[in-house]
Amino acid sequence: MITLKSEREIEGMRESGKVLAGVHLELRNMIKPGLSAYDIEVFANDYILKHGATPSEKGFEGYKYATCVDVNDEVAHGTPRRDLILKDGDLVKVDMTVNKNGYESDSCWSYAVGNVSQETKDLMDVTKKALYLGIAESVVGNRLGDIGFAIQDFTENKHDYGDVRDLLGHGIQPTMHEKPDVFHYGQKGKGLRLKAGMTITVEPMINEGTWKIADRSVKDRNDPWIYYVSADGSWSAQYEHTFAITDDGPVILTSQDAEEDEKMLAWARQYIKDNNY
Ligand code: MF3
Ligand code: CO
Ligand code: CO
Repeated sequence: MITLKSEREIEGMRESGKVLAGVHLELRNMIKPGLSAYDIEVFANDYILKHGATPSEKGFEGYKYATCVDVNDEVAHGTPRRDLILKDGDLVKVDMTVNKNGYESDSCWSYAVGNVSQETKDLMDVTKKALYLGIAESVVGNRLGDIGFAIQDFTENKHDYGDVRDLLGHGIQPTMHEKPDVFHYGQKGKGLRLKAGMTITVEPMINEGTWKIADRSVKDRNDPWIYYVSADGSWSAQYEHTFAITDDGPVILTSQDAEEDEKMLAWARQYIKDNNY
């Protein structure tokens, strides 16, 4: 069942999203060569608790941490390891889910560690644009397939990247993962029709090479969770926002910078028009 949220619930999720965005804003300055993935975990966990919220990944299906931290070819669900020390040129993704007063928010961001290659900058830029294309498609009357189509066409046809199929966006609230599944690939005009009051995430994972992923567990990690890497070792970027679909268009609830969001959405709307998406 897909529940439609009231304005009050959306407001609650926005408060949760502010805490989450606050962590990302701090990470922008903190992430540097020499920092460990576990340093990120400790910082995020403390920040969330200090702001009257809880990290809802911790305890989720046995996951032990507040954050997922994935570097370079790692795609998702990496644990924040002490021995993962960020190096100049790395690409690190930090994904968190926050609960404040019963309201969930979920957002992943990609960070360049020190000086990254032009290839890495391009991958990050295209992946971020893919996220905003997905958000811009999330208007009342469109369908889920419109979101997936835009992301897939942009990343795989306009750019020669791999658009990970196996991990999806999702509805969110009252729990982290609700219906519907939000595919990052698909066909225009297909799938569920979008309605005002839906709260969902879009969170494309885009690989420089193949879209295929491999799982790497576990034993080396002393942790029950499987994490994913690109099948060909190519690097992967990810951006994720939680947002509400409203009669006035999508409202981003994990916004880090309203001006930046507006700029990216304006770009996305124009791109959608120019390419007949
Ligand atoms: N935040 C992730 C998502 O985008 C979920 C991570 S799984 C967890 O859906 F175990 F870490 F919580
Ligand atoms: Co997430
Ligand atoms: Co998510």
